[in-house]
Amino acid sequence: MAITTPGARPANPRFSSGPCAKPPTWSLDVLKDAPLGRSHRAAVGKEKLKEAIDLTRDVLGIPADYRIGIVPASDTGAVEMAMWSLLGERPVQMVAWESFGAGWVSDVIKQLKIEASEHIEDYGHIVDMAALDYDQDVVFTWNGTTSGVRVAGDPIPANRTGLTICDATSAAFAQDLPWDKLDVTTFSWQKVMGGEAAHGMIVLSPRSVERLENYTPPWPMPKIFRMTKGGKLIEGIFKGETINTPSMLCVEDYLFALHWAKSIGGLDALKMRADANAQAIWNFCATRDWIDNLAVNAATRSNTSVCLKFTDPRIKDGAAFAKAIAKRLEVEGIALDIGAYRDAPAGLRIWCGATIETSDIEAMLPWLDWAFQTEINA
Ligand SMILES: Cc1ncc(COP(=O)(O)O)c(C=O)c1O
Repeated sequence: MAITTPGARPANPRFSSGPCAKPPTWSLDVLKDAPLGRSHRAAVGKEKLKEAIDLTRDVLGIPADYRIGIVPASDTGAVEMAMWSLLGERPVQMVAWESFGAGWVSDVIKQLKIEASEHIEDYGHIVDMAALDYDQDVVFTWNGTTSGVRVAGDPIPANRTGLTICDATSAAFAQDLPWDKLDVTTFSWQKVMGGEAAHGMIVLSPRSVERLENYTPPWPMPKIFRMTKGGKLIEGIFKGETINTPSMLCVEDYLFALHWAKSIGGLDALKMRADANAQAIWNFCATRDWIDNLAVNAATRSNTSVCLKFTDPRIKDGAAFAKAIAKRLEVEGIALDIGAYRDAPAGLRIWCGATIETSDIEAMLPWLDWAFQTEINA
């Protein structure tokens, strides 16, 4: 079969699943108001940090009685501080269906040494979230970034007595998060918002604050995990008085992304952009018999981290084939960083979050045809 080389090219070939593409209107110039060389505890620094918290609440629709903090060590820092600070008070269910969730399971069982029950599904599938016991604590990932599978429906009861701790780093700003069902929610800036790495966000429900103030875990608590002092929440953390020094350059960058989000129509617009991007890829797969979603159930397909597998029976070494495709697209400058995550099944992972332009996805897909045909004939 003759292979045609597509004419159009994506304007931006950055489809990495993190750090993700910057908002389309970003340039280095947007950082010029960053209070560089100033203390984050000076009024100017505090104001910027508070604005980042307030705008996060505004764009995500987080209830007024939930605390929002900027914490060290990105999403990992936020998840770890939640688990170390809150778990151990009652039985825990650890839930995972891909690599990052599996990491949290291992941390709780091997590091905190809690005898948690494990609820695990393989890549492409999802745990039956409605079958869990929500009078126990539940730790889970909303959107499995490395499998492209996300929570669907409304499985968490509002009247639970346990806490839900949710790693939502590749869901926040692109998917609806039911705040009344989430007691701790974490994310970072470098995913859907295309921000910079190293800063984590933690969102606490009133019930998780109550647990923090009334339960002291039996293990030592590193300073960067500590959210209470003398049995009381350190409220300053949730007003921008960070535990340690943040980068004001990164804060400025996050503020730009939040203002961009508001300017295009807020959360609804962000979700619509991610949906349109993912839909373009799903349509592509639906009309090809050699590529498919890793997500088995269409209702659980992620609209951010779209994970794909090659299904052509002529492929002998799936991992080598997928790598070769990703490499061809990278060398051509068409798509950067789209190989599947190192622990995930062989395939591609194409970021579709809100900072990605649908026109770039559409310009990239004919090249995927081209790369597939070239590689299968090689
Ligand atoms: C679901 C999930 N959790 C945690 C992480 C780790 O995030 P960070 O590097 O911000 O700590 C990632 C990164 O891709 C992720 O996708």
